[in-house]
Amino acid sequence: MEKYTEKVMEHFQNPRNVGEIPDADGVGTVGNPACGDIMKLFIKVKDGKIVDAKFKTFGCGAAIATSSMVTELVIGKTIEEALTISKATVAEALGGLPPQKMHCSNLAADALKVAIDEYKAKSGGKKEEEK
Ligand code: FES
Repeated sequence: MEKYTEKVMEHFQNPRNVGEIPDADGVGTVGNPACGDIMKLFIKVKDGKIVDAKFKTFGCGAAIATSSMVTELVIGKTIEEALTISKATVAEALGGLPPQKMHCSNLAADALKVAIDEYKAKSGGKKEEEK
């Protein structure tokens, strides 16, 4: 059985950006059907850029580490750039994940997409109201 990389262990033991953003512009909640783990990702957007991201994850070590990594990857990115982040991007940034744990990186990438969708729907909604 392959082991976690040092980077995965490090993010698992010291996860970055844990918590909630009460006035988030987008929230993505996803569950992993393979194991039942859940992740909630919050993003704060300003002028088309993600200025803050936080997460809450009830899951395995790989799920925590990928969640932590995804928040680090998206902060400072534009929405368009953030949309290019896939589960492979997250796994690569962590120096790889054991094959049997690859599905865990789905959570972070999927939660990010859902959060961005929600942000887009909300900001679109605002424009509608202004009319
Ligand atoms: Fe559930 Fe890893 S075992 S996300």
